[in-house]
Amino acid sequence: MNTSRTVSSLTLAVFLFAASLPGYAQQSWTIGMSQCNLGEPWRVQMNADIKKAADEHPNLRVVFKDAQNDNLRQAAHIDEFVRSGVNLILVSPKEAAPLTKPVGDAFIRGIPVIVLDRRVLGNAFTCFIGADNKKIGRAAGRWIAKVLGGKGKVVELKGLMTSTPGQDRNSGFREGIRGTAVEVIFEADMKWLEPNARKEMESALARCPRIDLVYAHNDPGAHGAYLAAKAAGREKEMQFVGIDALPHEGQMYVKQGLLAASFEYPTGGREAIETALKILGGEKVAKEIVLSSRVYTKENMSRGGEKLGE
Ligand code: FRU
Repeated sequence: MNTSRTVSSLTLAVFLFAASLPGYAQQSWTIGMSQCNLGEPWRVQMNADIKKAADEHPNLRVVFKDAQNDNLRQAAHIDEFVRSGVNLILVSPKEAAPLTKPVGDAFIRGIPVIVLDRRVLGNAFTCFIGADNKKIGRAAGRWIAKVLGGKGKVVELKGLMTSTPGQDRNSGFREGIRGTAVEVIFEADMKWLEPNARKEMESALARCPRIDLVYAHNDPGAHGAYLAAKAAGREKEMQFVGIDALPHEGQMYVKQGLLAASFEYPTGGREAIETALKILGGEKVAKEIVLSSRVYTKENMSRGGEKLGE
């Protein structure tokens, strides 16, 4: 008997059998990814992380769309993805309420939808992936209370308060400082944007003769506040804390001594692709995947930051 010929005919038989199974022709998949904007480095990083993970799978094609911070445009993107027959949708929504219906409509039509970082309302989606913003806010509050010795005057520059990370980073922070003498003396919604943060900080500086620390819901916000304080010659009077901790942004600001701390907000790009592949392969996935986070300070930077505890 010719063994090698037997083996190769067996391989061919297995191949032909697999090819005849329903779904085999679906081995190539198109994923639509709607990003709420690409104006901030963190979102550029999320798309890069998605692309890098997807590039490892030649059978995956990802079509990226940028909603340019416009809810209507983002809703239209999701409808377009549905109409063009993508196999799965990834979406990092601008705001929860306006994106709930388009996401729900796609999901009800049987297209798997993975929601990233910012949430929608209800549960008409396949899976949510993101870090725990409430936990990050609480950890920031506790860390700040400790650094300030239990008392001090804080400015809070909030992310878009109609987006869920803004709400959670605010309520978590308030929990973290509860029972201490840390006082929020000025708060404003800077909508995640550095120029807005700078402007709001100018008002805070004009109104408050003493500020001990600025807690901003993201690093662009903390940087904007720092620039405003520096322009007023008051940056040494206070500390600055942000969230995101990208290596070339927040972590760099900490190394440079501009920020006292930055709390990591992982993009979830790689996890999005891993989860998409499971869903496309017919596996059941958890409704919610929570990513862990780290805090970077001058002291722990050389050790690669520190994982957030409970
Ligand atoms: C970017 C960003 C990040 C922030 C995230 C929250 O648009 O503002 O800085 O961590 O969105 O959704």
